[in-house]
Parts: sequence; C-alpha cells; structure tokens
Amino acid sequence: MLSGKRILLIITGGIACYKSLDLVRRLQERGASVRAVMTEGAQKFITPLAVGALTGGKVFTDLFDREAEHDVGHIRLSREADLIVVAPATANMMAKMAGGHADDLASCVLLATDKPVLIAPAMNSRMWAHVATQRNLKTLQGDGILTVGPNAGEMAEKGEAGYGRMAEPMEILEAVEAFFNATIKPLAGKKVVITSGPTHEPIDPVRYIANRSSGRQGHAIAEAVAQAGADVTLVSGPVTLKDPKGVNVVHVETAREMLAAVQSALPADIAIMAAAVADWRVASDAHQKIKKDGSGKVPALDFVENPDILATIGNSKVLRPGLVVGFAAETNDLIENARGKLQRKGADLIVANDVSPENNVMGGSENTVRIVSEDGVEDWPKMGKEEVAAKLIAKIAEKLGS
Ligand code: CTP
Repeated sequence: MLSGKRILLIITGGIACYKSLDLVRRLQERGASVRAVMTEGAQKFITPLAVGALTGGKVFTDLFDREAEHDVGHIRLSREADLIVVAPATANMMAKMAGGHADDLASCVLLATDKPVLIAPAMNSRMWAHVATQRNLKTLQGDGILTVGPNAGEMAEKGEAGYGRMAEPMEILEAVEAFFNATIKPLAGKKVVITSGPTHEPIDPVRYIANRSSGRQGHAIAEAVAQAGADVTLVSGPVTLKDPKGVNVVHVETAREMLAAVQSALPADIAIMAAAVADWRVASDAHQKIKKDGSGKVPALDFVENPDILATIGNSKVLRPGLVVGFAAETNDLIENARGKLQRKGADLIVANDVSPENNVMGGSENTVRIVSEDGVEDWPKMGKEEVAAKLIAKIAEKLGS
C-alpha cells in the first residue's frame, strides 16, 4: 500500500516513544521507507541506536551537526518526504508548531517543510485538555496539519486516565494510508450526492421546528469526498458552516425541498444521506403569523409525515445510485435499529452513532460510529468528524472495489 512512499518520522519526547519503534516496522511492512528525526527529549526515552537499527539509516538529532547538515541538511530533510509524521507529538512540540518556533532540528524541519504533516499527539490528559493545547490544536488543524488520536485510557502516571494516550501504531498507519488513498483520488470520476444538516419545518412565517444537527459530519464528508476526486453535490439544510471547498452546494430548508434537490442531482454513483431530516412537518403551515387571542388558549399543531429521502432513494427502482449510505442517530438499541434502517431504507451501509446527550455528537467535533452492513458490524474508535469522513471514503472505495 505504501510502496515507494517516503515517510519522515519525527519522534518527540514522551513515554509513547516506545510505540514509535513499532510504527517504523509497520510502515516498512507496507513498503514505505522511513527516515527519523529525534528531539533531545525523545532520546531520553529511546536511543537513536534503536531507531537507526530499524530505519537502517542515520537518525537525525542535531541542527548543528556539521556532518549531517553537510550530508542532508534540515531543508532537504524537510523536502525529501511524501509525508512527515510526528509521533508522539508532545504538547510542547504542538505549541512550537502552532507558534512557528524553530529552536531544534525537529521544529526547523517542520517550519521549513512544504509537505503534508500528520501528528499523533501524546501527553497527560490534563495537558491535552488545557485551553492552550486545544487552542494550538485548532491552529494546527486550521493550518492543514492532519491529526490522529489521542485516545482515551490510562496514563503513564498511576491512577490517571482520560484523553492523551497516543493512537496505537496500527491507527497511525491507517491514518497514513488514508492520507495516501486520498491523494490517489479513489473516487475520481464518481458523481456523489450528499445531504447534511437539519431541516427547518415552518409553523408559520416566523416560527419553525428544527433539530440539533450542526451539519459538521455531513459537510466534512462532502469536503473529503470532493478531495477524493468526486463530483459532489451537497444538499444542505440551514447550517452556520461555510460551504465546503470544491463542492456544489444546494441550500434548502425543508425535507420536501431536500428530497427535490437530491432527486435533481440524480443520476449519481453514490448517495450519502447524513442530514437529520425532520420526520414530521406541521400539517397546515399557516401563511400568517399565529397570534395569541387573549383567551389563554394555546394552538394545537397537527403533524404529517415527511418523505423519507434515504428510503426513497435506496428503494428506488430507477436511478438508484450504486452505493447508498445512510446514517442512524440513536439513543438506544443502536445496532438493532441500524440494521432495521439498513433493510427498510434499502441502504448498503449505515453509519450508526449514539446521539445520547452525554456523547455530545450533535454539534460536537467528534463522533464514535459503528458501520453496519450486510457484512456485519465494524466498530470505529472515537475520532474527529474529519477522520470519520476519511475512513468512510476508504470504506466506500473498498465497497466499490476501486
Ligand atoms: N432520513 C431521510 N429522510 C427522513 C428521515 C431520515 O433521508 N425523512 C435519513 C437520514 O438522513 C439518515 C437515515 O435516514 O441517513 C436515518 O435517520 P434517523 O433520523 O436515524 O432515522 P429515522 O428514519 O428518522 O428514524 P427514527 O427517528 O425513528 O429513529
């Protein structure tokens, strides 16, 4: 999978360093060549000798090493890679990257590079949760830096637990593969229609019924699918997000408008229905504002069912896209309900997520999903909505056999 790819692995100083040795092996197993840079901190945990024995080459540690500078030099190091992976990435290294500092070889390389960078943060859970680290993370993500992890679990410090454990080497490897998959445009030439966000169902000209969907997951998918080379039409309900790059966006308000927009985007190769469509609308949408009449009587609203867009597309005899992906937002019996939706709505894949309030999925930036299909159930760990999007594309490409 990674044959011919050149990875520059930057190891910074944390207890998770020992896992970087395994990461080198895993990357090499897939055919990648690995060059390593170690910070001074990293060398307190593992030795350049151990890393060099695995990479089979010089390990770069010192900005002021004349021989190394003469031989390769930090600018060349930063350019002679297809991807730079920082694993583990300490809070300090993230801060330096966010601030553009360059006071050692690793940070100089990161500042000098024009190559994509993937970081695997690893630190104590309080350091991870600190506003400064979260601010740096946002800055880095805004700068286009890719991230994998951290995971939740026990910390090296006895008795402490929470987010901060470095992603496992296999997860980092998957993120590396997902990155290269995206660059080979696995969905080139495909036409894809995606729904995202809530719908607003009017009660009268000033009031409507809505739900908590932010559209973040659907929009992240639309952007990633476009980056994977597809021609994307995103039918978006009312959201506060910017239109994703490289995507044709159709803005709608109601479920019926959403269905009409999806139907006009057909034929398509793939449909991904991520919107939280209102199941019901008010039967008689009043054309004038409903007024209080002073008697204290409250209005009664009658509802009628909205069209089910996913079911309409998934069960359609004509123009059904080759691959139909639905979502299932559940608060209980996740898998059973998702399986039911897979069948009833004629979908090939259901991305099921537990939207119980304690999970903060609706409106939040992370998601823990389970992929339900005829082949069974796949559990994905908690990850950013962008990572879910990237993994979903890999899954779709696998399903399409491309
Ligand atoms: N969906 C749709 N049109 C609707 C309702 C849902 O296209 N009118 C799609 C969603 O976009 C999602 C899937 O159906 O892909 C499941 O949505 P969900 O809200 O979980 O299910 P519902 O069918 O609304 O069922 P329930 O609310 O009873 O769980």
